[in-house]
Amino acid sequence: MNDRKGFGSNFGFLMAAVGSAVGLGNIWGFPNKMGANGGFPFLILYLALALCCGVIIMLGELALGRKTGHGAVGAYQSISKRFKWLGWLGIAAAALIFSFYSALGGYCLRYVVVNFGNLIGAEFGTNGVGGADVFQGLLSQPDVSIAFALAFMLITMLVVMSGVGGGIERVCSVGMPALFFILIICIIRSCTLPGAADGLKYMFVPGWAVANGIIDEAPGFWRVLTAAGGQMFFSLSLGAGVMITYGSYLDKKQDLGKSTMIIVGMDTVVALMAGLCVIPGRFALDPNGALGGPELLFITMQNVFDKMGPAGPVFGILFYLLVFFAAISSSISMLEVIVAHFCDKAREKGKGDRRKLYSAIVVVICAALCALVCADGMGNNHISPAELLGLAGAKLPGWSTSWLGLFDSVAEGLLMPLGALLMCLMISWELKPDTLRQEILLNGENRPWVYDFFRLCVKYITPLCMLMILYGQISDFFI
Ligand code: PFF
Ligand code: NA
Repeated sequence: MNDRKGFGSNFGFLMAAVGSAVGLGNIWGFPNKMGANGGFPFLILYLALALCCGVIIMLGELALGRKTGHGAVGAYQSISKRFKWLGWLGIAAAALIFSFYSALGGYCLRYVVVNFGNLIGAEFGTNGVGGADVFQGLLSQPDVSIAFALAFMLITMLVVMSGVGGGIERVCSVGMPALFFILIICIIRSCTLPGAADGLKYMFVPGWAVANGIIDEAPGFWRVLTAAGGQMFFSLSLGAGVMITYGSYLDKKQDLGKSTMIIVGMDTVVALMAGLCVIPGRFALDPNGALGGPELLFITMQNVFDKMGPAGPVFGILFYLLVFFAAISSSISMLEVIVAHFCDKAREKGKGDRRKLYSAIVVVICAALCALVCADGMGNNHISPAELLGLAGAKLPGWSTSWLGLFDSVAEGLLMPLGALLMCLMISWELKPDTLRQEILLNGENRPWVYDFFRLCVKYITPLCMLMILYGQISDFFI
């Protein structure tokens, strides 16, 4: 453990953890889910869940990681052999998400290039103009999308190969502040477009989306809870072993409670800021465009830049670079979860530092899964799971229509909430929360209520909320 190099500074750790949390989930998930689920009521429910589930699970993961000094599998194993497989759940979730996230990260790089082409008046193999054409081009040309996804994966790999302090920390310490700065520029541009006010109403005014026919009917409590719960897990990078792994690289000087509040707070603030950037632009310049998902990011937003006039391409480059920073700092954390585990193992066996080798192996395997996602073109190219099984056309759950949908539903809908629920149960009943008391209160001794709150939640409130979310997610999975 002594030669296990970690973060050099608390700022670096915070930027890496915030970098993992802030990602595509904030930019296309949060603003749309908030608008479609009643605006402020959704925000309040989200914040409540973030506080009594998100904060608790993150604190639990960070404490487990720092206490044991191991990656996901090792951390659980050193508590009890029976729980070792919980770590593997996290690793599986990280690998699945890394595979489809890279396809999307590659799309972002493609759009930087497209907007650069628009700026200098050259065409880089874009078929036609407008967001829909560029996107359709990507979906129907797997060779192009695979090439860009590979570039994204290689950049991720190079950062992870350079180590925790020298690679991850350094990149995030520059990338995150840069992201914040670009985001502010984009918000100012977006909110000053004529017609932007409707976007703000969509996001914040309860009932506005229903009254204006943007969604058919107000969703019930159960729907809003499932939407907010799923969003929270994915958005805070929970249940994938990320925070265990990052916690294991943290020295004993840091106050975990305070760090947790900063990470959760920043993720929520950036989600709201991302909403202020994309949604007003959509209402001002592409009123019929999609409000969420890949279509929002890759069709609606590109249309917005196309209609913005001469400065459009500049904002396009800035915006897609921003999304790229957000995506790469998240994908780094997914790869690190997997690589850290195998490096720990090798070190225990006295095999020395195998970080570079393992990074390369994991990327090769995930690249194969990623190629499947790219080749499938979000279900456009007839190689979706349903079609391969000869079930196309049958009434099947949403996930079966594309590889991206399958990977996403298994990871976000099943593995992450299940892993997090079982972690809470393990902390409460096997380990006993008191074992983590010292870890959680270290350098925060003047706030003992942080621990009391953690104990209360981790035993009763969090597992109960998680069961409800899991129920909602599982019934979504099977219909
Ligand atoms: N938190 C990231 C986002 O909001 O886009 C996604 C993510 C990162 C999920 C890392 C899981 C993970 F392990
Ligand atoms: Na997020």
